[in-house]
Amino acid sequence: MKLLVKHIGTIVGIERQGRDRLSGVALDQLDRLDAAWLTAADGRITAFGTADKQPDEAQFDLVVDAEGGMLFPSFCDSHTHVVYAGSREQEFLDKIHGLSYEEIARRGGGILNSADRLHDCSEEELYRQAMERIDEVIRMGTGLIEIKSGYGLSTEDELKMLRVVRRIRQTSPIEVRATFLGAHAVARDYIGRQEAYVDLVCEEMIPAVAAEGLADFVDVFCDEGFFTIEQTRRILRQGARYGLRAKIHANELAVSGGVQLGVEEGALSVDHLEQMGEAEIEALKGATTIPTMLPGAAFFLRMSYPPAREMIRSGLAVALASDYNPGSSPSGNMRMVMALAATQMRMTPTEALHAATLNGAAAMGLSHDFGSISVGKVANFFLTKPLPSPEFFTYAYQTPLIRRIFLRGKEYTA
Ligand code: NIG
Ligand code: FE
Repeated sequence: MKLLVKHIGTIVGIERQGRDRLSGVALDQLDRLDAAWLTAADGRITAFGTADKQPDEAQFDLVVDAEGGMLFPSFCDSHTHVVYAGSREQEFLDKIHGLSYEEIARRGGGILNSADRLHDCSEEELYRQAMERIDEVIRMGTGLIEIKSGYGLSTEDELKMLRVVRRIRQTSPIEVRATFLGAHAVARDYIGRQEAYVDLVCEEMIPAVAAEGLADFVDVFCDEGFFTIEQTRRILRQGARYGLRAKIHANELAVSGGVQLGVEEGALSVDHLEQMGEAEIEALKGATTIPTMLPGAAFFLRMSYPPAREMIRSGLAVALASDYNPGSSPSGNMRMVMALAATQMRMTPTEALHAATLNGAAAMGLSHDFGSISVGKVANFFLTKPLPSPEFFTYAYQTPLIRRIFLRGKEYTA
């Protein structure tokens, strides 16, 4: 299928140099093209240019008129938990009335509450609920998404979650990567026997997940009250033996050492980073590990925001993700994430866009195929209404500006 998009006001998020991530000052440099067209064939971008050199329309199966709107690369949301059962607004009320996230978790709420609900939910129903969220995020501009397990906490239920992720991957046009997060919390039956739970994760769950080829990555909630550095290291190394690349939930609740561990273990990303010191930033300099910030969680839990400016000043390739989950971030809206990055962390809209696209793709090891408008990459993009500037898209963060969505070069209409 050959596609031509014509009358594009501006293409933004172009990457012509083949960089797999943008770091430091490069994050704020926007490569854009005004009065443009773009072509795609067999799901990949084949060319783009200015209107004076537009190819003959007769060569294409489909010609789309962008009517002067902008073309953005789809968001690459590298950290979500969108497969979950039901919701947790009762805990939202508990938090309003003064309980902390840790207190709720200690009372058996939080992740364990979601694990109970997931246990009682059929695979079919779980898939149905997750697909509603997938449709929601596609409409908000996401084209590549990472989805974690971690509300199963038993071998059977972790597999159930990951099979749902596989089915989403097979049935939705969004690109999906799966992460095994068995070490999200200690399962109810194992409370007080944390080491035995880590044994279960390493000896039973990881081999079972790998045997069915259900995950690309392994993740651990390495934080105060959850899993220790030693336990995290053991789980990540076992994951590596089974071909799973590491990610870590690090430094959300405390300066946990998770960032340094992630760098040491060659993790793809270390995520959250609300609690960062100078040593953490120092450790990330020159590392391939992508520091991923989740401002939607900081917003929802009223936590401090990661020190984005210091990280960018230190030359890091920061990424932004939604953390869409029922406890700490019940939203997958990447425009809201960008707006929070701008208003709360003083990132420019350009920095936020790169962090939410190319660097998000890098946090999944996929920036050779996703995350920018580049010839040869997967044709995942959306068209907006005409905008006065690219910055307007982040500034007017609630206005419905997205008009048409293309995934693998096909229009999304479902
Ligand atoms: O990334 N911090 C750990 N895990 C999730 C929250 C999970 C939940 O509360 O259900 C997060 O914020
Ligand atoms: Fe998370």
